[in-house]
Amino acid sequence: MNDPYKVLAEVYDAVMDHVDYDRWARYLNACLRAHDESVSSILELGAGTGSLAVRLQPMGNYRYVMTDGAPAMVRQARQKVDEASLPIRCDVARFTTVTLQGLGRRDGFDAIILVYDGLNYLTKIDEVRLCLERIRRCLRPGGLAVVDHATPANSEDHDREFFDRGTVGGTSYVRASRYDASTGLHRSTFDIVHDGQHYQEEHVQRPYAPAAIEAAIEASGLYVSAAYDGFTFDPAHERSHRVHWLLERREP
Ligand SMILES: C[S@@+](CC[C@H](N)C(=O)[O-])C[C@H]1O[C@@H](n2cnc3c(N)ncnc32)[C@H](O)[C@@H]1O
Repeated sequence: MNDPYKVLAEVYDAVMDHVDYDRWARYLNACLRAHDESVSSILELGAGTGSLAVRLQPMGNYRYVMTDGAPAMVRQARQKVDEASLPIRCDVARFTTVTLQGLGRRDGFDAIILVYDGLNYLTKIDEVRLCLERIRRCLRPGGLAVVDHATPANSEDHDREFFDRGTVGGTSYVRASRYDASTGLHRSTFDIVHDGQHYQEEHVQRPYAPAAIEAAIEASGLYVSAAYDGFTFDPAHERSHRVHWLLERREP
């Protein structure tokens, strides 16, 4: 079994073909602008192959650093950023160990973004708290973070088992996904045939209830400016499928 995204990176954009990244970028830009019009530097965590970064960066001519924990995803992102000739720096960094120093910076970022299920890959709430602490330390005082996650209500209201397949160039994949309510975990197995070789990857995610994330935010020292019901400016609620948290680093 390979590490998640080691081989999937090759076909990730095709697997995510249904995702409306333009909508993600418009929504996140609106969130940032509504809460702080002066944002000019952004760090994106868990940015994958950079599909959001290449859309969001030009919306504010942001000074943009995108990171991901999987080197193969960052390689794909670099290629995309180079092809688009955009001033986006791409680095490998993990949620629970990322530091400003590791990114070659002294000053904190105006804004940090971690969206589209990255947080759900941290399957222990202590890891989520650690990640939020890292976010706080990488923000400048007064800085803003947009963090989102999928919830158990989302898993409960959709098919608990999911299956699909596809081919991109010479690479094909079969995905089998299952939510187990007794463990609270989603497991997706990808069978990938790439360059004539067969690989398997298992991706494990934990949907989190908003209350669990709120407690982790409080423990991290960040403050909640708003909790929005997925892609809206309405308050999140118990049955929200996705919650977008607007978080602030208040202390100096
Ligand atoms: C579902 S993908 C989303 C990628 C991207 N945000 C997008 O919208 O296409 C989750 C991403 O989180 C990254 N990831 C998972 N766990 C991580 C960790 N502990 N540290 C850094 N990145 C991680 C994965 O490598 C993957 O690229």
